[in-house]
Amino acid sequence: MAQKTELSVELFLKDCAQRTSRDITHCLNRHHDKELSKIILYASLDGAKRIRPGLVYATAQALDMNFETADPIACAIELIHCYSLVHDDLPSMDNDDFRRGQLACHKAFGEAEAILAGNAMQALAFEHLATTPHLDDKKKLIAIKQLSRAAGLEGMASGQAMDIKEVQTAINIQYLEQIHRLKTGSLMATCITILLEYATELSPLMKQSLRAYASDIGLCFQIRDDILDIDENADLTTKLPSSNDEANKLSYPATIGLAQSKEKLKEVEARCLHHLHKVANKTTMLQAITHYIANRLS
Ligand code: IPE
Ligand code: IPE
Ligand code: MG
Ligand code: MG
Ligand code: MG
Repeated sequence: MAQKTELSVELFLKDCAQRTSRDITHCLNRHHDKELSKIILYASLDGAKRIRPGLVYATAQALDMNFETADPIACAIELIHCYSLVHDDLPSMDNDDFRRGQLACHKAFGEAEAILAGNAMQALAFEHLATTPHLDDKKKLIAIKQLSRAAGLEGMASGQAMDIKEVQTAINIQYLEQIHRLKTGSLMATCITILLEYATELSPLMKQSLRAYASDIGLCFQIRDDILDIDENADLTTKLPSSNDEANKLSYPATIGLAQSKEKLKEVEARCLHHLHKVANKTTMLQAITHYIANRLS
């Protein structure tokens, strides 16, 4: 893995993606179930941008931590993320037929199979953290505690439940922000905060700045995602037409309009960068990933 910050963010993410794909494949090799494993590989390898692993490794870089410590964290978070997408696309949720430029998991393998693959991916994430040789027991417990909270009732699952329940016309922007922070922000925050807990000798400024960044970067990501879901400039090779009407989904553009959503995105991106600039010399790659997140086309 190249550690130099002058590397472009794309190359850095490619390196991160390779490490995570290697680790996910390795996790599956330990198991005999070939059917579910095939579905899990389908849902977790091709086309994933690996932004969350990118955030984990860029945080490791900022904290002078070796990438072997970051590996299991990146892999477990990405497994949870990929599982969340499999379930997010189901007919009972967003009812999307395509994901990453190919058929959504339930379209390719069937609904029950997709639900089970998602369940297995979640379990696999925690199994990986519990069994990895790269973390001592104390570090394992920290990771399992933080990730289970972020994926469950204090984060993603609750956010997703709020998301599917609301009708976009009835919602105010503060409530939408809260949903986004839960459904996307909480998992993304763990990409930074788990490693922060490992770094015991950190300056208060570094800790405070990275914590503040962790709490905002997921919102930045999800506003961009909402814009991409309807923006004509989006890369349509990955955002293929869905079976559902995007306008009916809860989103920033549906709530405050596209122009104001783009303004809000700029504001949150600037806030994220402001947190990082306080510890600028250490956070070059996190800054580059932030720019990538806020300006990506897919
Ligand atoms: C999409 O996330 C789902 C959201 C949380 C908005 P990504 O855009 O990171 O998805 P992949 O993994 O790169 O496909
Ligand atoms: C997905 O948000 C959030 C989670 C899966 C937790 P979206 O529903 O906006 O993601 P896309 O647009 O389908 O990728
Ligand atoms: Mg959704
Ligand atoms: Mg969706
Ligand atoms: Mg979306």
